[in-house]
Order: sequence, then structure tokens, then C-alpha cells
Amino acid sequence: MTEITITSPLDMHLHLRQGDMLRLTTPLSADFFAGGVIMPNLIEPVDSVDRLNTYHSEIQALCKDKVFEPYMTLFFKQYKKAELEQVKDRIIGIKLYPAGITTQSENGVSDFTTIEETVSAMEELQIPLLVHGESNGFVMDREQEFLSVYQTLAENFPDLHIIMEHITTADSVEFMERYDNVSATVTLHHLMITLDDVIGDLMRPDLFCKPIAKTQEDRSALRNAVFSGHPKLMFGSDSAPHPRHKKECIGCAAGVFTAPVALPLLAQIFDEAGSLDQLQNFVSTSACQRYQLTPPQKTIRLQQKPWTVPDFYGDVTPFYAGKTIGWSVVRT
Ligand code: DOR
Ligand code: ZN
Repeated sequence: MTEITITSPLDMHLHLRQGDMLRLTTPLSADFFAGGVIMPNLIEPVDSVDRLNTYHSEIQALCKDKVFEPYMTLFFKQYKKAELEQVKDRIIGIKLYPAGITTQSENGVSDFTTIEETVSAMEELQIPLLVHGESNGFVMDREQEFLSVYQTLAENFPDLHIIMEHITTADSVEFMERYDNVSATVTLHHLMITLDDVIGDLMRPDLFCKPIAKTQEDRSALRNAVFSGHPKLMFGSDSAPHPRHKKECIGCAAGVFTAPVALPLLAQIFDEAGSLDQLQNFVSTSACQRYQLTPPQKTIRLQQKPWTVPDFYGDVTPFYAGKTIGWSVVRT
């Protein structure tokens, strides 16, 4: 049976949520990954040292018997340099959301001319800037329209590490390549689906997310770059669970819950592309190099043995629910 071993897989973009949802999601990531970049878009955003410490302790308590490093982020707002100095060693970066662009981003940035002072302090202190890069234009053009903001940031702050989160378009891949200080994360679902899968047949709330899945050409550009082992592309699942009543309703919340299926499905699609030798790079090495991380040592064995994804984890429908994946994690 074909088997591969991955050392210290990392999920560089992860929503764990709070309360019961946090208790459900944390082990599903912490069992498989050596670390994850924890998103700060809680109902009350993680935008102070106190909230950061509380949230970090809650996560730590849920993975105390596991090898898993929660890499914490702060929610972008205007911070003074002194505040950032105080918190710098406890975060991996600061996540910027344009106001109202996605789940719980109401407190995000509505005027990009106001961010300069904070971003400049981040550059000085070498705190990475993680960005949800979408405008509020036509839904299929939002990522493209945001590239001018990325360009201004990349050029004005050449020593700032900017991470374009969950890129979905060929243009974003091309843009990312042009600037040394820019990296990007790519999700599993954007490597697998296009808009057709979301709304081309029966409408699929479980596949609805922000940014919305794009065209076949866009997906091909992402796949080509990822499967060829691009050194600036990192795996970030953007696993974003919502309870069924928030998905199966009028006003469906954006988010695809991929954490429990991420590594087996990545193995499957890398294998199908003849690129299994690049999986380690995508799920760990690129991130370690770009963020200069030394993650906890953890070994995950994946084997070509089919398993069927449950219909639900708690009250959440996972990506690939009820379908069979050709690869599974070897439980030790
Ligand atoms: O689909 C998404 N869901 N995109 C995001 O940017 C946020 C996330 C969430 O928090 O649900
Ligand atoms: Zn996200």
C-alpha cells in the first residue's frame, strides 16, 4: 500500500471559533497538524492582549495532550507601536479584514488611508500582515480589484511580510510572484472546486465561501503553482465551520469546513497530479521558510486506503461529506 510521511504539517489559516464549536474543532486540527494559524474573527474580535491571552489559553487547554502549536493572530485595527511591542512575541501576525467583507468582519478596515501608522510599526517590528484581499465590488472581481491595495502595501512596505490569504485567481498567483515580500496561502477547496460546483447544479451551501470559488482557468493556475512546489505558496485550509442552521437557511454563512479531511484529500489530489513529492513543501516547508518557523516535531503517515467522510461532525457538515477519499491518516 502506498504510504507517505509528512513532517510537521501546518495549517496556515484556520478558524476554530469559540465555546462548543471550539471544543469540536480543536482536536480535529490538533490531531493531524503540528500547528495552525488561528484566525481572530470571533464575535468579539481578538484585538487586545487580554482577548489574545484568553483565547490562547482556551485553545491550549483543549490540546494539552497533543502536539499542536496554535499560532495566534490579532485582528487588525489601529495599534500603537508600544502595544505591538508588548504583544509581538505572542503572535505570528495580524489579520486584516476589509470591513464587512466576510464572517464577523464588521470591525475591519473601511478606509485604507488610515492604516499606514500601524502597518509601518508592523514593518519595523517584523510582524507579518495577513490579508483577506477582497474589494466590495462584483463578487467574481473582488480579489482582482483588491490587487491595487496589495501593490501599494508591497511597494510602500518592502520589509513587511504580506500574506495574501486564500488566493483563488490566476492573477493573484501572478501578482504574488512579482514581490519578494509577498506570499500566499491556498485552501484545499479552491484547489478542488469552481463556481460551477457551488451554484452550477443544485445550490451547495457547504461549498459557499469567501472568496467564492472561481473559474476552471483560475483553479488550473492555482493547481499548477501548488503542484510544482511554489516556494511562496503555503497551505491554509480556511476551514470555517458553521452550524447547519447558519448554512441551510436564507442568508447562508460563508465557510467550508475542511479540517477533518484536509490532509487525506491533499494527498489524493497531489497523488493524482503526480506531485506527492511536493506535499511536504506545501503543507510545511514553505511556511517554515516564509515565516521562519520551527514547528513542533510531529510525524503524520498517510496511506492509500479509502475511508468515507461522515455526514456530520457535531452539527457541522464537512467538505466531502458522505464521499470516499482514497487516502487516510494512519492512526497510531
Ligand atoms: O468563507 C469564509 N469564511 N471566508 C472567510 O474569510 C471567513 C470565514 C469564516 O470565518 O466563516
Ligand atoms: Zn478565513
